[in-house]
Amino acid sequence: MNNYFRDQTGLSPKPLDLWEPIVIPKEVIDAEIDRLASLPQPANGRRRSAFVHPRNQKSEGLAPGIQVTLDVLKPGERTVAFRQNSTQVNFVIQGKGSSFVGGKHVDVGLYDVWNTPSMHPYWHHNTGDELFVRLTYSNAALLDMMNVHYAEENPSPVEAVPHEEMSEEDKKRRSSPFGTFKLNDEGAYLMPYEILISPPTVHSPALHWPWQEVKSHLDKLEALGKDYVGRRLYLLYNPMTGRTNGTTPNFFATMTIRPPKIVDRPHRHTSAAINYYFHGSGRSTVEGKVYQWKAGDLMLSAPGWAVHNHASYDDYVYELTVQDQPLNIAMESLLWQESLKLPMAVLGVQEGVGTNRAAG
Ligand SMILES: [Fe+2]
Repeated sequence: MNNYFRDQTGLSPKPLDLWEPIVIPKEVIDAEIDRLASLPQPANGRRRSAFVHPRNQKSEGLAPGIQVTLDVLKPGERTVAFRQNSTQVNFVIQGKGSSFVGGKHVDVGLYDVWNTPSMHPYWHHNTGDELFVRLTYSNAALLDMMNVHYAEENPSPVEAVPHEEMSEEDKKRRSSPFGTFKLNDEGAYLMPYEILISPPTVHSPALHWPWQEVKSHLDKLEALGKDYVGRRLYLLYNPMTGRTNGTTPNFFATMTIRPPKIVDRPHRHTSAAINYYFHGSGRSTVEGKVYQWKAGDLMLSAPGWAVHNHASYDDYVYELTVQDQPLNIAMESLLWQESLKLPMAVLGVQEGVGTNRAAG
């Protein structure tokens, strides 16, 4: 007997063991903000807590692939510079400040969203006169599980490598004599090492979605009316993510408006969803269990593949949703079932789901 093998002979696939949803109420988040604000500022400037799911034994994630941290800076404080190979969605839940990402400066206010690309040095500064509080969503949890999360505090300044169009010389080098070529009529190819280690580059920008501008577009979606079966939201789209429809290569962030008394259809997807509600209140039904929420609550609302739907009560709900959907599209693992009466689809490979919105 040795330790290298686990016998799987004749083993049938096991059902998924879903993590339960969690609502972290505003009061609990506020108490943690107060606790962080009461600490002396550490040398790296970061007063930070990670929201960790009680089932998580492998990383500091709230979902297996999504880490969410609470970051607090007092007036005038700033963090030192960091850089890492995880990518982030940043979101302001209190106060205002400045962020410096890869040499770009953004002034950010309440409910603004911006992204941090991989390996871009960044730091944050509280420029207001109250606490500057952010939620940071990152794929660090996933990279930690893969044991490849590279992070540096105070990185030495490096020249940014400018994105360049491929030169004629490069094009030649890539095609001949070591070009990629078709091996057979079915479409199997062979690619040489020179191309394998030098994939086409894309510019990965730090982008900013100011809440007031997003809101002005979002509020117009109310006109879709009571009979609209889709969701009234905008993806904060970063074009570098291409066909995987992301804000970062790993996550999408969407801003949703739910008019009063809207009930979604039950549906499910293998991407996990984390919602932050910042106006109104409502309930979510996940795998048959009902969870209440209100403005200021953070919720793991849809563990991957859990059947769920959300409903608003008597007021307008605004929410930020972060899902690891682009990653799942890239992996060809994004199963999506928009209605339990319909078959599931692999999004990005099979036809996606339509709504009843008229083109215009
Ligand atoms: Fe969903």
